[in-house]
Amino acid sequence: MAIDEVPLEELRRRSSAKWRSYPSDVLPAWVAEMDFTLAEPIAHALRSAVDNSDTGYRWADDVPATLAEFASDEWNWQIDPGNVTVLADVMSSVGQSLLHLTDPGSTVVINPPVYPPFFSTVEKVASRHLRDVPLIADAGRYRLDMDGLAEAFADPAVQAYLLCSPHNPTGTVHAVEDLRRIADLAAEHDVVVIADEVHAPMTLAGAKHTPFLKAAADVADLRAVAIMSASKTWNIPGLKCAQVVAAPTVVERLRERLPIEVTYLVGHFGVLASLAAYREGAAWRREMLSALDSRRRQLFTALEDMAGVSMTWPEASFLAWVRMEGLGDDPAEVIREQGKVALTSGSAFGSPGVGHVRINFATSEAILAEVVSRLGSVVAAHAS
Ligand SMILES: Cc1ncc(COP(=O)(O)O)c(C=O)c1O
Repeated sequence: MAIDEVPLEELRRRSSAKWRSYPSDVLPAWVAEMDFTLAEPIAHALRSAVDNSDTGYRWADDVPATLAEFASDEWNWQIDPGNVTVLADVMSSVGQSLLHLTDPGSTVVINPPVYPPFFSTVEKVASRHLRDVPLIADAGRYRLDMDGLAEAFADPAVQAYLLCSPHNPTGTVHAVEDLRRIADLAAEHDVVVIADEVHAPMTLAGAKHTPFLKAAADVADLRAVAIMSASKTWNIPGLKCAQVVAAPTVVERLRERLPIEVTYLVGHFGVLASLAAYREGAAWRREMLSALDSRRRQLFTALEDMAGVSMTWPEASFLAWVRMEGLGDDPAEVIREQGKVALTSGSAFGSPGVGHVRINFATSEAILAEVVSRLGSVVAAHAS
């Protein structure tokens, strides 16, 4: 069986959030879990650990050099393993970076529509203020508002910028010129850049991701971290292992201030699975990216024919940002009730998301066809 042909009855036996949050008549296409089979090298590493009763505390010492090797092969980005800290997941890494690299009461810039935990991590975990610089929608594509960012960075209250690269939910792969300009502006105004690059290894055909710290390599005095993880790309978010790559300007400060207990939240299975993913996960990733490429075409083509529905072409990852006219402010709610498909509400991504949904298309061709068919029925019922 190909990795992207897992039948629905088998998926329903999964006990993760995607499959347990809604009743069994609802087809889940919301949270960012994939419906694919686990990469065999990862399954093997986990099976061996279970067979060996190897279920103790994490030992993450091999992760930094393994990530560095992956980043060098993938992006020609040279990471000093000594600058890498292993933490449990991406958002706790963002929270810790904000807590230790910015002052209480300071302001953090984000670009809505954006991954919902960006809002709560800034406001509730770090108790910092938010300043929105929304993405610009431009001929069916979203991009960063560089003038808006320049204006925001000049505000003395702004101490950090939380960049999502590639961007969730629009799938934007940011232009390298924009990343360089951000680095220059951030250095000029002493703004710390926190680059969430969890979706980077899922950049799809036709786009090219540049790691922020690589784009910014020549910018002296820039304070920045990049946060990486195998969790999304290899579908292991429940196992808990992320990596914070710190620029030399902040590495000491982060290390001194980070409570050791935070590193204990890293999962032992997360470490084992991440090592297997970075070292031996290339063949599975190729197959997965090719499946995503055909699913995004399948979804785009199907939605093109629906009145009042427009999908942004994602350049990375497996999430489609879709505007749905005629279904009110929260189309996801209408679709869940009337079409029995669970999508993520656009409004969770900030005010520009009202009237939108996010569709997870990391599933089989057959299940995606069923999602589209149910959506089509709801749209048709409201059009008539
Ligand atoms: C942009 C972004 N950041 C962070 C995360 C959380 O990643 P994890 O829980 O795997 O660490 C996600 C998950 O979908 C995401 O899309």
